[in-house]
Amino acid sequence: MTLDDLMFKPGLLDGQRILITGGGTGLGKVMAEACLMLGAEVYILGRRGGVLEETAAELMKAHGGKVGAVPCDIRAPEAIAEALDAIWADGGALTGLVNNAAGNFISRTEDLSPRGFDAIANIVFRGSFLMTLDCGKRWIAEGRKASVVSILTTWVWNGSPFVVPSAMSKAGLNAMTQSLAVEWGGKGVRLNAIAPGPFPTEGMSARLNPDRKGEAYSDMSANPLGRVGRMPELANLAVYLLSPGAEYVNGQTIAIDGGAYQATGGNFSALRAWGDEEWERARAAIRGTNDKDRAQRTV
Ligand code: HXC
Ligand code: NAP
Repeated sequence: MTLDDLMFKPGLLDGQRILITGGGTGLGKVMAEACLMLGAEVYILGRRGGVLEETAAELMKAHGGKVGAVPCDIRAPEAIAEALDAIWADGGALTGLVNNAAGNFISRTEDLSPRGFDAIANIVFRGSFLMTLDCGKRWIAEGRKASVVSILTTWVWNGSPFVVPSAMSKAGLNAMTQSLAVEWGGKGVRLNAIAPGPFPTEGMSARLNPDRKGEAYSDMSANPLGRVGRMPELANLAVYLLSPGAEYVNGQTIAIDGGAYQATGGNFSALRAWGDEEWERARAAIRGTNDKDRAQRTV
């Protein structure tokens, strides 16, 4: 990405210190890159220490500045506290938090076990809340202004078949955004959210379109723009919401999906046509990705 891909002047985020959960990969990495290019100090957090180190090195080599790699599992409140202590000690308070880390996979809901539900809800619903809570307590105690941006999906408005734990968890974060915007706005902490449509990433494609030819993302003809999202488009929206110039924007969830939600509901209803064979194949492919990623975790 170059500055020409972004719609902001250089230095827009000078003096900002922004933590992006799941910032080692995918959309988180793109948002980290944009924040860095515009002058922020950036921290990226995830469970695979090697992936974080590689991303931090790559971004600093390309753009200079400072990217801190923070290995942490957001399912554990003690690990969150330790990570935030280290960040605060490293250069002071954060000014922004992007709740981007998530887990997801397509599955018929009747095939889920309680552990399968927890695997997603504990990251998305519980982990994002715990991270917001710990940051919020620090900001309020210190009387600091801050901006929280959570990455949701358009399913927060209409649900989605075949990704029910994710749809439920993201809807919960939408309620968190609206609720805390009111509760914490007067204390200087504002919360907004982004509901992206499809932006192809390794992590998403491997778990939501596992055979790479499923109906979910290969056919974009139903999207009014006929295409998937471009990474700088997402980065521009995130930067806008994080920047001090957007201070009066509070409690909003903004879709960025080419209008797909209005046109189609933007969910996985096409997968109703799948039978046992397709679901078994998807599950095996997703398991392969999960096993490979788990082997790289350092926390
Ligand atoms: C049914 C499944 C399953 C599948 C796993 N499980 N995959 N059940 N169908 N395809 C079940 C397992 O059988 C197990 O239950 C339980 O889930 C936990 O599995 P683990 O592999 O032990 O989980 P864990 O190592 O904790 O990994 C968590 C994860 C994994 C969520 C399953 O995918 C992960 O870490 N993902 C992080 C990255 C990610 O998902 N990125 C995609 C984000 S994209 P049992 O009972 O059998 O033990 C996204 C896009 C949204 O969110 C919007 C797009 C428009
Ligand atoms: P991704 O690359 O798989 O990103 C998920 C990130 O979350 C990974 O870096 C992962 O790193 C991290 N993570 C998962 N569990 C964690 C945990 N317990 N603790 C800390 N970090 C954890 O997928 P993506 O497509 O970029 O998705 C990013 C966000 O966008 C998600 O919230 C997703 O729901 C949302 N979204 C994506 C799309 C899309 O089309 N791509 C559309 C709508 C919404 P580790 O595995 O190393 O921990």
